[in-house]
Amino acid sequence: MSSEISRSGSGRTRLDNYVDRYAARTAGMTASEIRALFSVASRPEVVSLAGGMPNISGLPLDVVGRSLHDLVSRNGPVAMQYSSGQGDPGLREQICDVMALEGIDGHPDDVVVTIGSQQAVDLVTRIFCDPGDVVLCEAPSYVGALGVFRAYQCDVVHVEMDRDGLVPAALREAIATCRAQGRRIKFLYTIPNYHNPAGVTLTAARRAEILDICREADVLVLEDNPYGLLGFDSDPIPSIRADEADGVIYLGTFSKTFAPGFRVGWALAPHAVREKLVLAQESATLCPPTFSQLAVSAYLSDHDWLGQVKEFQEMYRERRDAIQRFIDHFLNHYRVRFNRPNLDVSAEARERLKNYSWPGNVRELRNCLERAAALSQSELALKRRLPSTQVNLAMSQARWLALAADPPFPQV
Ligand SMILES: Cc1ncc(COP(=O)(O)O)c(C=O)c1O
Repeated sequence: MSSEISRSGSGRTRLDNYVDRYAARTAGMTASEIRALFSVASRPEVVSLAGGMPNISGLPLDVVGRSLHDLVSRNGPVAMQYSSGQGDPGLREQICDVMALEGIDGHPDDVVVTIGSQQAVDLVTRIFCDPGDVVLCEAPSYVGALGVFRAYQCDVVHVEMDRDGLVPAALREAIATCRAQGRRIKFLYTIPNYHNPAGVTLTAARRAEILDICREADVLVLEDNPYGLLGFDSDPIPSIRADEADGVIYLGTFSKTFAPGFRVGWALAPHAVREKLVLAQESATLCPPTFSQLAVSAYLSDHDWLGQVKEFQEMYRERRDAIQRFIDHFLNHYRVRFNRPNLDVSAEARERLKNYSWPGNVRELRNCLERAAALSQSELALKRRLPSTQVNLAMSQARWLALAADPPFPQV
């Protein structure tokens, strides 16, 4: 048996005696960007611009608590039991009502409840991808999904984005190039709304164009939409799935509109694909957690959850505006440019920020900008290809309001 030195969580080095026994697919499971991101973003002193962690302090925890208490007392034996591998039928109906808000006419039979949309990405990749298959992704793309694609030994081909989202001509070219090389494209993974990490939204015109390209080339679209209902500058643009049922698998989640702790998401898939997803779900977990599903279902039916989403929108808008005022005032000089809700941090600006001695809270912000830049996937994976790093401001766990109120931060 050979061995390899690895580092434990405590920082101690250990011998890994199993190094020659792991499956080949574990080679793609390298340092977890998600773990690194959460460990920094969860620290109270950190204003994280890098992840999509919702601000749970905006939730009415007393209402949620009463609802959980009712669930246990009224329906405990059901809530604590195994249940359908496809997910609770009542919740699947409610999910269809949620999707209708973004123009989707889905049927509960075609919905599979998953453990967050993260598991939906995993299940879709599991049923479609063999090692070496190509997954097309925006450049940059979401670290959590990239981790899944790596774990299944997919080849990720990044497609250029700009301020209007994925660039259709670049998608056309990427498909043609892969096909000319004899590579098998399994799907296009795209985040059309408030992209993580880039923050941009795919325009309505481009959605139609991207869909046409994928239809023509027979490329399946995996549309990941965790943030669509949280927009605060305009009404939601109809999803890609709203215009195409057969060629799109749509992923949704309650992590951002309610709470990620319940880990409830879903996939809406063409019927045949849905069958495979349920089989994959059953082999992975038997069933999604019954308790979480019923808790989410009760929240949706007993609470004005859309009113709550509107409150979230206002809260995130206020925070985005506060940080925008802050940076406009202090950092324009250093060529840090805003593109609401994005922030472009040019390499030169980062360099200058690094050498500048800021006081108190401003120093904290500087550290955050650097951490965000350091952690964002665009920086990690595409260093050489992108002129700047984009970080998503809107969904940060940022304490912008606290910063704004706290001396020595001057009001701007
Ligand atoms: C683009 C994107 N997809 C999926 C997820 C995973 O969400 P969930 O909590 O539903 O697994 C996230 C979480 O931040 C995300 O930003």
